[in-house]
Formats: sequence, structure tokens, C-alpha cells
Amino acid sequence: MTSQNLNKLIKKWNSIKPEVSEKDIGVLKKILYRCIEEGKHVTDPVERDMVQRVAREVGDVIFKLTGEYPSTVIFPPEISRVKPISKLTFPFPPSLHNQTPPEPNFVGRKEMLETITGWYTNPEVRIGVLIGWGGVGKSAIVRKWYDTLESNNIKPDGIFWWGFHRNAYLEQFLNALLRYVSQGQIEPETIKITWEKTERIKEYIHQGTYLIILDGLEQMQKSESGDEFGNMIHREFTELLHYLADVPEAGGLCLITTRYPLIDLDEWHERGYKKLSLIDLSIPDSLSMLRSRGVKGSDEEMTEIINRYKGHALSFTSLAGYLSRYYDGDIKQAPEVEFVLSDKERFKDLNKLLSKYAAKMSEPEWIFSKIFSLFRTEVTENDFAGVFRHEIEDT
Ligand SMILES: Nc1ncnc2c1ncn2[C@@H]1O[C@H](COP(=O)(O)OP(=O)(O)OP(=O)(O)O)[C@@H](O)[C@H]1O
Ligand SMILES: [Mg+2]
Repeated sequence: MTSQNLNKLIKKWNSIKPEVSEKDIGVLKKILYRCIEEGKHVTDPVERDMVQRVAREVGDVIFKLTGEYPSTVIFPPEISRVKPISKLTFPFPPSLHNQTPPEPNFVGRKEMLETITGWYTNPEVRIGVLIGWGGVGKSAIVRKWYDTLESNNIKPDGIFWWGFHRNAYLEQFLNALLRYVSQGQIEPETIKITWEKTERIKEYIHQGTYLIILDGLEQMQKSESGDEFGNMIHREFTELLHYLADVPEAGGLCLITTRYPLIDLDEWHERGYKKLSLIDLSIPDSLSMLRSRGVKGSDEEMTEIINRYKGHALSFTSLAGYLSRYYDGDIKQAPEVEFVLSDKERFKDLNKLLSKYAAKMSEPEWIFSKIFSLFRTEVTENDFAGVFRHEIEDT
């Protein structure tokens, strides 16, 4: 069977799988027959694994529908033709893609940080998820925790961080992960089938104790409201998550941040998968955050604003910037933005706050912000060189 035919066969199976019924028996038998007959000639170990998986799944369904259990055995090819995996060396240097920068004024979240450490050290927890609305502080916590790995004596064999806000392309993500876990033994660009990439990742990933951080995973989930809300967009990703939730004896953790519920892992909840809902900052934490960012005022005045802004971390960073820039940090000058309760409306509130900010800006400041809004994080002088390629006149 060629790789293309195999891909077609898998696609066919995946398309009927969700709503398979007795009327499909004929097709199922054909798929199974092809797997067994043509599968005998497949020598690539990854492809064999895929054929066998389809055969097993189809066999199980036929049994459920008919009560007969067809043979799904595919004889192994000559051993000499199977390429062995060369030895991997650990620890392997981290591979970080669009990592969230550290927050120098990080406050609170002590218990949550401890919970994440607990997840990592508990061999039964395979996937830990932080769920919460945008700007609530999910990525900031993960970065904070990452920075304490050494002091917590957490030493994975490898660390892979992928920020989906900046790069939500499945192929690029899989290529980077496969290259990493295979320690460069596989050139992912040469693999044409997406399924095969995930199969290869599985083959390697269980060989080490990895910390895999998937930040902003909602970019890969279905966002429209309805039955499918929160499901992964790509089946390959679902498959990979299921494998990570189950992966035997590997240790380590897959740590995820997302704005949407991770429906695809529901069945693993409280087994391999744990989740934590992130809520807004407490009043004491909000107070220290605002003060550390230069906001001044009495505790009462500050608390009133904290309540009004609902303890939303991202809104506080904007508020603190605005007050420090134009009012020497005076909390009394906080814009009269009434934050509504609903999470979904939160960005509208933040917009109101930002338009107050924008109204205060001079024209050069405004232009500057427009250019630098391309950056998702705070900008330093080092970033200037890349943006201003020409010397400004009279400088
Ligand atoms: N505990 C904290 N202490 C200080 N600053 C914080 C804290 N939590 C979040 N922030 C700041 O608030 C802002 C928003 O936080 P962050 O980017 O982590 O939110 P998020 O939940 O990951 O949002 P998104 O869903 O958009 O990715 C950042 O500027 C971050 O530095
Ligand atoms: Mg984030």
C-alpha cells in the first residue's frame, strides 16, 4: 500500500467513524480487508502501526455491530527491514517557541503555582490545564512556574514550549515537536501525511520525561458556540492529546493554557487530566500589583477601583500604564469605566479603557503605539532596530 492510499483509507475510516452504523458494514469489511491484505506489504514501522490501529478499530466496530470478531492480525514484515530508532540522549536542551516573557511584578497565585508543581510530580497526572478568560493571567502563571523549575528541583529530560497566539499552524507545530522529540533524527518536512507526524511523535515522546507547554491552545479549538464549541479543530491534535493523557510511565507533564473548555479530554478528567479555572486577582494581590506598577492612593480608593475593574490582570496593566504616564500614578484619575460582569464582554470594557488612554496620547505616541501594537508583549529598545530600519532625519 502506498502512503497516499493509506492516507485515503484512514481518511475514509475517520469520516464514517463518528456516526458508524449497520448500513456501513460492507464498507467496514472492505476497509478491514484492505488493511489486512495490503497491510502485509507495509514495511515502514509508523505506517504499519497506523494500518494496525485502523484494523483494530474497525474490527472492534464490526464486532459491536455483528457480534463476530474478525481477525485483525497483520503479519510483521521481515525484522531486518524495520529501521531501529537510534538512542536519544537526555537531558536535551529546551525548545521554546514564542515563550511568554517573565512578568517582573508578578504577584500572588501561590496556591496555583503549588498545584502545578503537584501535577508535575504526580505520575498519574499527564495533562494539566489552566482555563480562564483572556488576560486573566494564565500565561503569566505558567511563565512564573517555569522560572522556578530549578528551585523546585524539577528536571525534565526536555522542555518544549509552543505559543499558539503567535503561531497557530498545526503543521509547523508538529514539525517543531517532532524535530525536538526525535532530537533531529527525523526531518519532519519530508513527511507528507499529518497523521504520520503525530504517529512519529508518539513513537519518540514516551521515551523521555518531558515538560510540554501548549500556551493559548484555544487558537486550535473550535470557537463558534454550539455543540462543537471547545473541540479541537484538527483530529490529529485530538489524537495527540489523547495519547499524552494516556502515555504510559513516561512521567513529566503537558501543561496547557486555554480560554475554552477542553471538551476532547472530558473522559480523562480526574484521571490523567486535571484542570484549574483561573479567576481574577484577589484584592490584596491586585493592590500589590498596582502599587508595584507605580499606582498611588489609599487602600480604600484602590479597592474601589479594583472592584470596579473586577480584578482583571490585563486591565490593570493598562490602567497602571495610563496613570503612571499621565497622572504620576494617581488612582483618583482612573477612568470611569464600568466593567460588566460577563467574561465575554470583558474585551469591550478593556477597549473603553484603552480608548481613554488613546485620547490622551500625542500624535507621535499614537503612531508609535500603532507600530508597536504588532508586538504582543512589552517592547524593549532592542526591538527598535528591527522596526526602524532607517535613521530618522536630524538624529
Ligand atoms: N499574577 C500577576 N501579577 C502581575 N501581573 C500579572 C499577573 N497575572 C497577569 N499579569 C499581567 O496581566 C497581563 C495579562 O496576563 P496574561 O497574558 O498571562 O493573560 P492570559 O490569561 O494568558 O491571556 P490570553 O488568554 O490573552 O493569553 C500580562 O501583562 C501579565 O503580565
Ligand atoms: Mg496567554
